[in-house]
Amino acid sequence: MDLAVAAVAPAALALDKHPALIVAVSGKTLSAGATALDAASEGALAMALAHAGFDGKAGQTLPLYSLPGIKAGLVLVVGTGALPDSGELSLQVWHKVALASVKAVPGKIGKALSTLAELPVAGSSLASRISDLARFALEASYRFDNYKSKKPEAGDLLARLTLAIADKAELKIAKDALIWGQCIGTGQSFARDLGNQPPNVAYPGYLSEMARALGDDGSVSVDVLGEAEMHKLGMHCLLSVSAGSAHEAQLVTMTYNGGKAKDAPVVLVGKGITFDTGGISLKPGAGMDEMKYDMCGAASVLGVMAAIKLAKLKLNVVGVIACAENMPSGTATRPGDIVKTMSGQTVEILNTDAEGRLVLCDALTYVERFKPAAVVDIATLTGACVVALGKVASGLFSTQDALADELLAAGQRVDDRAWRMPVWDDYQELLDSPFADIANIGGPTAGSITAACYLARFTKAYPWAHLDIAGTAWLSGAQKGSTGRPVPLLLEFLRARAAV
Ligand code: BES
Ligand code: MN
Ligand code: ZN
Repeated sequence: MDLAVAAVAPAALALDKHPALIVAVSGKTLSAGATALDAASEGALAMALAHAGFDGKAGQTLPLYSLPGIKAGLVLVVGTGALPDSGELSLQVWHKVALASVKAVPGKIGKALSTLAELPVAGSSLASRISDLARFALEASYRFDNYKSKKPEAGDLLARLTLAIADKAELKIAKDALIWGQCIGTGQSFARDLGNQPPNVAYPGYLSEMARALGDDGSVSVDVLGEAEMHKLGMHCLLSVSAGSAHEAQLVTMTYNGGKAKDAPVVLVGKGITFDTGGISLKPGAGMDEMKYDMCGAASVLGVMAAIKLAKLKLNVVGVIACAENMPSGTATRPGDIVKTMSGQTVEILNTDAEGRLVLCDALTYVERFKPAAVVDIATLTGACVVALGKVASGLFSTQDALADELLAAGQRVDDRAWRMPVWDDYQELLDSPFADIANIGGPTAGSITAACYLARFTKAYPWAHLDIAGTAWLSGAQKGSTGRPVPLLLEFLRARAAV
């Protein structure tokens, strides 16, 4: 979908050339745009809302065709719910309204003009509202139909959405904000595409090829380690995960230098398990197909790299993805096996299904060489995180309050929220092993925390945070598909870092 911004005052809407206009109604209160169209149509708009029993609930939409006095054939009215006492919409309602408005415009109409950027949103500026609308539009129009024989027709999707701003003087700000929003949306769609790929396509080698492609134009340098190189580095813990797979594990480093040469980079480390059967500790069959999404941490890192090179972000960022397939076989790792990590610590693998931490720990030791300003790992790490936080918030774990606060605030600003959980030492003893330095599971309680505590033992050399995206990376059921989270959170975090 093409996106654009244009200065169109409410008074000019009635004669605007777009075939479709999007205007908001908050409960019973018409927005400035809706008020202007109502006046131009001599009350026909309000009358139509009344006849339809439209009560302006958040996300409710009503298409009104051929209103008198209005050039556009379609006026799409979207409800926001009554404005709260603050007079401003919450970010969550704003997000819902924007998605609903784009989804409700029939694609065959071709082009639409949205006036939603003029809505009052808590803590927002015009620039952030434009960025938000751009990425929400891309989110709403996302499809994954690579494997459908019957392709959707060109007219199924809206060709162009233009975002109206009332004040011409803000056009430059709005245009820059639009580009940033498109970068986020593009990165998020990139991550969604990777997540949705079937696991017989998206092997570890597929992810490393996608990373290499990001480096084709020279803006990102890409380095891929295969199993032989990882063996030399002593990454036996990572290698233990792919021991049962016919597909070679890959450790991929993408380096983007947009900042000053001497500035320490922010390092992102993604879990890239291209399929998680559980290994010898085999998972139950129901819903196992969804374990193709166990590489969504890696996909989010690739999405972020794709976006920051588009945006030419002024920051040094290193993206590392630890890719392996967790399969049972005659060569697979067994429960009880003891392996040595790159850090020198030994691990007793009591459950081969707790494999994410096994690939991450070696990747987290590996990234010490970049002398990071901060390291954030992103992983679909524990089912326990889904139990705790559901599909709303990602789990955030960090031993560093300042870094945790930065990530939480970034997630709030872009409605891609995380919620902090503890990594206290009190939990560490749950990982004691009688035979090795550490066990890879911590028993039935506090599963997400013990997973984070395991990682904490490998991240002492730098400020570190861990995002458990097991609940947020994809949706199940009728809406099955990758969400591209937490690409918006990460990009907002990086943007804010680049700005200081
Ligand atoms: N990839 C899974 C975590 C997961 C499960 C994410 C369900 C989303 C939905 C991870 O590798 C895993 O299997 N974790 C185990 C850990 C346990 C064996 C300690 C889990 O959560 O059951
Ligand atoms: Mn697992
Ligand atoms: Zn897993």
